Amino acid sequence: MSSFSLKPLSSALGAEVIGVDMRSPLDAETVQALTEAWHRHIILLFRNQPLTFEEHIAFSRHFGALDDHAAIPKFRHPDHPEILLVTNYEAGGKRLAVGRQWHSDLSTTTRPAKGSLLHCVELPEVGGDTMFCNMYKSWDSLSPTLQSILDGRNALHDMTAARETRLVRTSDELADIRRRNPPVYQPIARVHDGSGRKALYVSEMTSVAIEGMTEEESRPLLQYLYDHSVVPENVYRHRWQLGDTMMWDNRSAMHIALADYDHSQRRIMYRTTLLGQPSGRVADLSAEESGLRPAAVFPAAPPPAGTGERRAP
Ligand code: SIN
Repeated sequence: MSSFSLKPLSSALGAEVIGVDMRSPLDAETVQALTEAWHRHIILLFRNQPLTFEEHIAFSRHFGALDDHAAIPKFRHPDHPEILLVTNYEAGGKRLAVGRQWHSDLSTTTRPAKGSLLHCVELPEVGGDTMFCNMYKSWDSLSPTLQSILDGRNALHDMTAARETRLVRTSDELADIRRRNPPVYQPIARVHDGSGRKALYVSEMTSVAIEGMTEEESRPLLQYLYDHSVVPENVYRHRWQLGDTMMWDNRSAMHIALADYDHSQRRIMYRTTLLGQPSGRVADLSAEESGLRPAAVFPAAPPPAGTGERRAP
């Protein structure tokens, strides 16, 4: 087994791994020790190791099966579908904004990502940071009363809810995306299959409602949960260096890519995505689950004449 040491990145989460060469094959004991460290620290940082695509994929595979990014074909590598391009410029020069709200990768699918390994290859002069928060602590620090209300309940995750998507898509395009990627219910308190601990699993980017409640009713509670999760004490902010790889656990962390840089400069990262266990279920938003429809705002029938009830113009 290769021996390595861990240097904490913040009190909330994260550790730098010192002494592992990502480009060399790892033995089973080292993989086991890294997996335990990953579950404990939630995000692991490997510094100063430029990787080829093959090395990035081979290292990632030690921790599980990889997504082929079929849902995002435009940004997957043509010869290495396990590699996803994360950048602020498309090949044709169009600017992009990706990951700019707190989220957990693939929570809008029934096979949410277990982890992601983001490798840094080009950076703006300053900024381009990524922040991470500890969702075990988010859950553990809720009051027992709120925990008992939320435990066993689901939240609806909808890909079209992402701000950057809504800003650039027409309503027809949004409807099309939603048809191809129907919203999914995920448990709000999700048990981590590696550690056995509960973590809060709602995300600012994708969660739109709590099952059995309307969107209007859900919104303030969800907003509270996001605000509660990202208090500064629960966050680590990573300032990237070229050759860094960050391996995060999507079951116990949310992350956000910050727009804290000059967008005339390029930022290029490559990501592999570890497939997780099946989780959640596709929502049937017709009929019985239509508590999501804002019926309270748009009553089906007008009030009976002469009741004196007034409607907003
Ligand atoms: C991501 O959300 O997967 C990418 C985060 C980043 O670009 O910093």
